[in-house]
Amino acid sequence: MKKRVLSGIQPSGVIHLGNYLGAIKQHIEMQQSSSYDCYFFIADLHALTTVRDPKKLAEMTMDVALTYLALGLDPEKTTFFKQSNVPEHTELAWILSSVTPMGLLERAHAWKDAVEKGAKEKTVGLFTYPVLMAADILIYKPDLVPVGKDQKQHIEITRDIATHFNSHFSETFNQPQELTPEDVAVVPGTDGQKMSKSYNNTISIFSPEPVIKKQVMGIVTDSTPVDQPKNPDTCNVFQLYRLLATPAEIADLKEKYQKGGYGYGDAKKLLLEKIMETFEPYRKKRIELEADLGYVDRVLREGADRARIEAKKTLDEVRKKIGTRP
Ligand code: ADP
Ligand code: TRP
Repeated sequence: MKKRVLSGIQPSGVIHLGNYLGAIKQHIEMQQSSSYDCYFFIADLHALTTVRDPKKLAEMTMDVALTYLALGLDPEKTTFFKQSNVPEHTELAWILSSVTPMGLLERAHAWKDAVEKGAKEKTVGLFTYPVLMAADILIYKPDLVPVGKDQKQHIEITRDIATHFNSHFSETFNQPQELTPEDVAVVPGTDGQKMSKSYNNTISIFSPEPVIKKQVMGIVTDSTPVDQPKNPDTCNVFQLYRLLATPAEIADLKEKYQKGGYGYGDAKKLLLEKIMETFEPYRKKRIELEADLGYVDRVLREGADRARIEAKKTLDEVRKKIGTRP
């Protein structure tokens, strides 16, 4: 039996190296394996918690679709769709919210951060974000949810919500497991914090070279002079290079750092070359896709048609259990 795999990504900014290494790369690899039946979607309704410009939301949704397709997502093998095209997710989210204790959501990192940092807009949507995410997941009864490490807590909350529903209405949902890439911790941004759209510290994968160059040259390094040995383990440039280079290339750069006489500027140039080289073939594919946006729309529509068949099965089961469809 194939394992069912599901994941989503928000269209809330230009796709960056953290998204790629922490999530997308893994998604594409799983699709190649005959052991998995993959569902990947663009979480446009989640993005509404931060994006309030309709043109931008539509553009960024298209950007995520183009990114996945350029990186090798095969719509014949994978069910690829847009969250808002499967309205069953939002009905299930309401039902789940009715059995979700407030305390569970109050402990969520994203919400706690918003409260602690005094975010100017604390919306109900931001608070209940994990419930919609639980619905996105549970409606497909997946075995595995491949996400970056920062999403682990959301999957734990999903399992808790499943348990609450099952205990009220009898066994319905399984307990999906997160799958986080082992070799990639949290990808650091140009300032050393977690790379994130919200921190303005990203390195994008498909932007024009001058944009990527500016991002790479802006990586924060310490003030060790060029001639002195440097510590690769505490250097953001090295930490990013390590995630893209071969073991031999990594060993080579490590030696240069430890010997001294090698500047951060040189390391940044090397990193830039590595980034451009890694994404070059996909960049070409993306340009081809950009010339046929009708195809991309069609892929997403057909994906949603397929996803809805599965989503409706679960929702019908749930409606019977709660008494809205006796
Ligand atoms: P952002 O933090 O930029 O808003 P998202 O929350 O939309 O990114 O993340 C999309 C996917 O990329 C998630 O699965 C997330 O775990 C992964 N991801 C995002 N940033 C990183 C990072 N810095 N390191 C590893 N994975 C990441
Ligand atoms: N919260 C996820 C993120 O920011 C996106 C997401 C929404 C998701 N629904 C999901 C991921 C369901 C996995 C499964 O990255």
